Amino acid sequence: MPINTTVSILGEREHGQDVRTNNVTAVQAVANIVKSSLGPQGLDKMLVDDIGDITITNDGATILKQLEVEHPAAKVIIELSQLQDREVGDGTTSVVILAAELLKRANDMIKDKLHPTNIITGYKIAAREACKYVEKNLATKVDIVGRESLINAAKTSMSSKVIGPESGLFSELVVDAMNWVRTIGSTGEYKYPLKAVKIAKCHGQSSLESKLIKGYAVQMARVSQQMPMRVKNAKIAILDMNLNKFRMQMGVQFVVNDPKNLERIRERELNILKERCEKVIKAGANVVITTKGIDDVAAKYFVEAGVFAMRRVDKADIRRIAKSTGGQVITTFANNDGEENFDPAWLGTAESVFEEPVGDWDYCFIEGFTKASACTILIRGANELLIDEVERSVHDSLCVVKRCLESGYVVAGGGCVESALSIYLEDFARSLGNKEQIAVAQFAEALTVIPKVLAMNAAFDASELVSKLRVAHSTAQTSNDPKYQNLKHCGLDLLNGKVRNNLQAGVLEPMNSKIKSLKFATEAAITILRIDDMIKLAPKQEELPQRH
Ligand SMILES: Nc1ncnc2c1ncn2[C@@H]1O[C@H](COP(=O)(O)OP(=O)(O)OP(=O)(O)O)[C@@H](O)[C@H]1O
Ligand SMILES: [Mg+2]
Repeated sequence: MPINTTVSILGEREHGQDVRTNNVTAVQAVANIVKSSLGPQGLDKMLVDDIGDITITNDGATILKQLEVEHPAAKVIIELSQLQDREVGDGTTSVVILAAELLKRANDMIKDKLHPTNIITGYKIAAREACKYVEKNLATKVDIVGRESLINAAKTSMSSKVIGPESGLFSELVVDAMNWVRTIGSTGEYKYPLKAVKIAKCHGQSSLESKLIKGYAVQMARVSQQMPMRVKNAKIAILDMNLNKFRMQMGVQFVVNDPKNLERIRERELNILKERCEKVIKAGANVVITTKGIDDVAAKYFVEAGVFAMRRVDKADIRRIAKSTGGQVITTFANNDGEENFDPAWLGTAESVFEEPVGDWDYCFIEGFTKASACTILIRGANELLIDEVERSVHDSLCVVKRCLESGYVVAGGGCVESALSIYLEDFARSLGNKEQIAVAQFAEALTVIPKVLAMNAAFDASELVSKLRVAHSTAQTSNDPKYQNLKHCGLDLLNGKVRNNLQAGVLEPMNSKIKSLKFATEAAITILRIDDMIKLAPKQEELPQRH
C-alpha cells in the first residue's frame, strides 16, 4: 500500500502576501475606528453593548475594549491599547494609530520586494534611535517649570476629553491628589501609588462641584443610626469576616435528648458572637470595618460601647485602609491554640472617622492617616454616562501626573516629538548603507501620521500644517544658531491652525509615556509583521454514538 507523504491540514490556510494584506486591512480597520477621536478636537464614540448599556467615551482603550473583534491581528492591536492603558494610562489612541501606520508601510515595502526581516531590523533600529533622541534632545526637566508643568501635563491629557473645558479645576485636583499620596519607597525614592487615590462617583450637581477630600471615602452609612456620627482618635479594627450569630458548619448534626440543652446551644451560639465583639471592644477599637456582615445583635454591642461600625465594605477599600492606617486585615480571631483573641496591635489608627451625606448618599470618611496617606476625588455630574467618562479622564490624568513626577521629564505635545523624530530619523537613515535604510526612512514618515490626524480632526489642512511643522524642526536640527534652538519644541496649535512653541504654550506630555508608546507600537507592528502563515484549524468532528 503506498504511504501518503503529504501532510494534510484540516482547516483553512492563508500564506505569504495574502495573510499580510489581510492582517494590515484588519488593523487598519481598527485604527480607523479610533482615528477621529485623537486630539483636543477629536470626537467621542457612543457604544451600545448587547444588553443595551451605553458608554460614551473618547478613550481609545475603552472604545477598543468594547469591540467584539474576531480577526487575530486586530486582537493584537486591541491588546496593544490595553497594554498602553495598563502601563502608561494615556496615549492609547495614538499608539494604535502609529502601529497601524507602521504596518501599512511595511506591507507596501514587502510588496516592493523588501524582505520582512530587513524591515523588522530597520524598525527596531529606528525605535531605538528615536527613544535615545527624545531622552537626549527633546526632554525638559519638570523642576524647571515646577507645579505649573504638572498642571499643564494634566490639562493636555484632559483637553481631548469631556472635561476639557473644566480642565482648570480638574488638573488642580489631580496634581494635588498625586502630591498628597506621595510616599518614600524602600530605596529612598518618592513613590506615587495610583491606588491611594480613590475616585468616588456621586450623581448630582455639576462636574464643577467635584472636589478633593484629603481622606478616604467609602460610599455607605454606618450600621446603626445610634452609633456616634464622628469618632476622634480612631482605633480601627479591620475585619474580613462575619460578625453574625455563630452557626455550626453545614453537615454538623446534634442529637439532643433534653429540650433544655437546645436552649443552651442557642445561648452558646449567641455568646460566641458576644465574646468576639467584646474582644474587639476590649482591645480598644472604636471603629470596626468589615467586608462581610454585622448583624443586629453585634450592632447592639457596638452601639452600647459607642463604636462606629461599617459593614460590607469593598475588599479593595479595606486593603487600602489597612495600608494607610497601619492596621491588619483580620480573617479569623483564632490563634494556634484554638482559642480566640484580638491583639490591640492589629488596630489601625487615624485622626477621625465620620459619616456625612454627599448628594443623596451617605459617605463615611476616614481622615488623618498615620502610615501612608490616601485621598479621594469626589466626582459630581449630571448623569451616569458623563460621570463614567469623567472618571476615565481623571484616571488618565492621574497616570500622566504620576509619570511626570516619577520620571521628572516632560516633552512638548501636539505632534512635536513625532515631527522632530521624523526629521531626525530621515537624516539618520541616510547614514545607513544597507537595506534597513528604507525601513528607517519609512518609520520616520510613519511618525508624521500623529500630527496629520491631529490637524485633520481639527479641520485644518493637514499637509500644509505638517509641512510647516517639519520646516521648523528641520531648522532647529540643522542650524547651529542658538536662536533657532527653541524651534525644537514646536507643535501644533489646533485652535488657530498654526505652529507654535508648545513647551511655552503648556501642551506637555510625560517623556517616558512617549518613549513607551513608541516602543509598544513598534513591537506590536513587528509581531504582526512576522506572521506569514495563518492556519485556522477546523474544529474536531466529534464522533456521534451510532444508533442501532
Ligand atoms: N492643546 C493641545 N494642542 C495641541 N495638541 C494637543 C493639545 N492637547 C492634546 N494634544 C495632543 O493630542 C494627543 C492626545 O490625544 P488624545 O488624548 O485624544 O489621545 P491619546 O492620549 O493618544 O489616547 P487616550 O487619551 O484616548 O488614551 C497628543 O498627541 C497631544 O499632544
Ligand atoms: Mg489622552
